Amino acid sequence: MSTLDSLSRRAALAAGQPISELMRQALAHPELISLAAGFVDQATLPVEATRAAFDEVFHDPRWAQAALQYGTPAGHLPLREAVLAALVENDGAAIAGQHLSVEQVLVTAGSNELLHLLVDTLCDPGDIVLVPEPTYFVFLGMLRNLGVRAIGVTADEQGLVPEALDEELARLAGTGELARVKALYVVSYFDNPSSVTLSEERRGPVVETIKRHSRHGTIRIIEDAAYRELRYGGPNPPSMRSFDAEGDTVVLTETFSKSFSPGIRVGWGFLPRDLVEPLSDQKGNIDFGSPNLSQHVMAAVMDKGLLRPHVEKLRDNYRKKLAATLAACEEHLRPIPGVHWSPPRGGLYVWLTLPDEIATGPGGTLFEHAVEEGVLYVPGEYSYAGQPHEARTNTIRMSFGVQSVERIRRGVEGLTRAIRRTLEQ
Ligand SMILES: Cc1ncc(COP(=O)(O)O)c(C=O)c1O
Repeated sequence: MSTLDSLSRRAALAAGQPISELMRQALAHPELISLAAGFVDQATLPVEATRAAFDEVFHDPRWAQAALQYGTPAGHLPLREAVLAALVENDGAAIAGQHLSVEQVLVTAGSNELLHLLVDTLCDPGDIVLVPEPTYFVFLGMLRNLGVRAIGVTADEQGLVPEALDEELARLAGTGELARVKALYVVSYFDNPSSVTLSEERRGPVVETIKRHSRHGTIRIIEDAAYRELRYGGPNPPSMRSFDAEGDTVVLTETFSKSFSPGIRVGWGFLPRDLVEPLSDQKGNIDFGSPNLSQHVMAAVMDKGLLRPHVEKLRDNYRKKLAATLAACEEHLRPIPGVHWSPPRGGLYVWLTLPDEIATGPGGTLFEHAVEEGVLYVPGEYSYAGQPHEARTNTIRMSFGVQSVERIRRGVEGLTRAIRRTLEQ
């Protein structure tokens, strides 16, 4: 009997995530310039701000002891109040007047935990979650792991296309599967992998389309705003949540991983009222509350006004790296016919479309040439649901967060050589 036979069906489905192959390559070839890893820039991680926040928490032994005790499944109240205040400030007039209660804020160990909890709470095996094409491949892996079907909906440079969403929901109604649709998942700012932001004009229509097809309030929107703070220019449209005046449809998920530190592992969500108890119950089964010490530290970071200046520093740093990436793309990739990208104004990624005949997947010629030329990237095909449309095989996600400007430049040069060699074959 193999170990696999001794595992649950779900554990078996968790195996073979695409990211494992990339990590294997990165470990096997440490000399490679990885434009694959979606990490934040280690050099920008906020050591001093975190030390100051720890000092604040440990200054008063009673506060320190409270932080070292178990917390509650919902999370540390001052932190929940602070993130709600930040949401209200960020969304401004668009959300003013809506009744938002701190009871609806749930803190989790990063937003990944919340995404998992949400799918686990909303979906049974065989249910459907709609996703834009392309979408966050870790989320796709999570759906697979839970036996949930992902169905792709067309997206363009303005994000998810409301008419395509409408058509897909009508198609599913026609096949009798509408009742199995439990959610639409959207990374609403600077998407991972495409860096597309859902345009302000489309936010209302997307929310309205879901509400119209959701006969008994059974379809939710999971709005993943992980990259909202990584904005280097352009507008800051109000959240999709702000377009849900009844507050019964959109679940907003956010995280401090990109704006402060992923190691702190603090994410949070703003939930429709009827989901607060089911999610808290589910969460209580798992963790008795997310790491309480981290939550006290993040509350102190916010209370001492340390977050905003840090975000400004991050923006300056990533703005330069994005500019370097785009300049290298212009210089080296632009001359190759059929290579396209849309310059993003935030996030950590540039999404490349290559000529149709180039397959970017692992084991393919381009991937091999790229490794030989010293570069790793994320094949775009991981980011597609694969139904009802086939995955596009000629796309690439390049991350610019981790590498220095010099290595980004060399990485794009290496990738360009790999593309040219592949085209010449
Ligand atoms: C779109 C998106 N959502 C959620 C996450 C999860 O982040 P965390 O669990 O660190 O909050 C990530 C991480 O890269 C992401 O890219």
